[in-house]
Amino acid sequence: MAQQIEEILNDEFVGKKVELRGWIYRKRRVGKLIFIVLRDSTDIVQCVVEKRKIPEETFKLLDKVGVESSLVLKGTVRKEERAPTGYEVDVEEIAVVGPSYNFPISKDKSDEFLLDNRHLWVRSREMNAILKIRHTVFKALHEFFRDRGYYETQGPMFVTGAVEGGSTLFEVPYFGKKVYLTQSSQFYLETLIFSLEKVYTVAPSFRAEKSRTRRHLTEYWHAEAEAAWYHNDDMMRDEEDMIVHIIQRVLEERKKELKYLNRDIELLQNIEKPFERMRYEKLINFAQEHGVNIEYGDDLGADEETAITKHFNAPVFITHYPREIKPFYHRPDPDNPNVILCHDLLAPEGYGEIIGGGERIYKLEVLLQRMEEEGLNPEDYYWYVDLRKYGSVPHAGFGLGMDRFVWWIAGLSHIKYAIPYPRTIRRTKP
Ligand code: 4AD
Ligand code: MG
Repeated sequence: MAQQIEEILNDEFVGKKVELRGWIYRKRRVGKLIFIVLRDSTDIVQCVVEKRKIPEETFKLLDKVGVESSLVLKGTVRKEERAPTGYEVDVEEIAVVGPSYNFPISKDKSDEFLLDNRHLWVRSREMNAILKIRHTVFKALHEFFRDRGYYETQGPMFVTGAVEGGSTLFEVPYFGKKVYLTQSSQFYLETLIFSLEKVYTVAPSFRAEKSRTRRHLTEYWHAEAEAAWYHNDDMMRDEEDMIVHIIQRVLEERKKELKYLNRDIELLQNIEKPFERMRYEKLINFAQEHGVNIEYGDDLGADEETAITKHFNAPVFITHYPREIKPFYHRPDPDNPNVILCHDLLAPEGYGEIIGGGERIYKLEVLLQRMEEEGLNPEDYYWYVDLRKYGSVPHAGFGLGMDRFVWWIAGLSHIKYAIPYPRTIRRTKP
């Protein structure tokens, strides 16, 4: 049975025979020796091939092939402080499985080049570390919801109406009609709480975002939840439990990867519940005091979020936004109907919004009035309106941008590094 590199990098394996399978990460010929740094999904290790120990043909081939050639080898582990990961394998048998010549990616390639060659760049140690963190984030999210009694469910991706406003809808031809790609599964989750009470989904959402920022994708992974009988505060409590649970898991499982990415681990370790809750009104004051050009009633754009959250070192909930700047479905505050019972969760360090959520309007008259104010036709949303006719209940929900969350947790400069194949205004390849 072959080993993986990570497991052999310890003193217990010194002097033991191992079998490894992987790809050439670096290679160097020194006289009758070839030094190969082998990589697999787990780590890298230096392997030394001595000419006299293997058939001449194989040595010649090894000398010729380039980085990213795939290999299987057998050898004995030795401690070697000068080797990149502290151990070395003395090779006794080796075979080239799939040769690689002139691998297009070398040092100093531009960002555009790496994006065009993402299918090859995903092999890089940097992407490997990011993808592992992403895996743990998704895994921990599912863990959280299952433990909390949320049922996993799915909504459709082809839809006929907007959830988050018409300006970012993608239109798709559909057998002579037009439909859209969904912006959010929220309304479908709202229907499902009448059966399951607490539901969640992890699915793509689509936004025809014309803005080019560090935080916008046109297709992103959206974790959304909805719960019957929940008010705004109940939902925020679940969300902070969820965020803290996921961060804990990432710290348990992915320290090595965070270190590789030079992430400030201490900042993540210091994140504690409860998160600060700040009303929108207070946020505007805070922003103005810190030199951000913004007025009461303005929505926060990417630049404002960056400027504001640079002053945060933990996530902060912003609540009670003016109703005009959020979609029609949010429940107006009975104490002051000019503001709504909603929340955004802003990640610190300049990252900004990662969650949008809140309490939904559950009274029919209020919903119809808000739709009229926004110029929406209730017939287009007949099924959404129906929910307020047949046994309506208070309920709340939220949407977490998974790519944005990974972007922040991993401390990346741009969201496009947080997802294997980013889709942006200019990029649909590979
Ligand atoms: O704030 P948004 O638009 O809220 C909704 O879609 C609600 N219907 C969710 C709900 O309550 N069920 O989007 C939610 C989150 C944002 O906070 C952000 O993290 C992410 O989705 N998001 C994007 N991520 C990447 N690229 C984009 N273009 C995004 N737009 C939103
Ligand atoms: Mg939002």
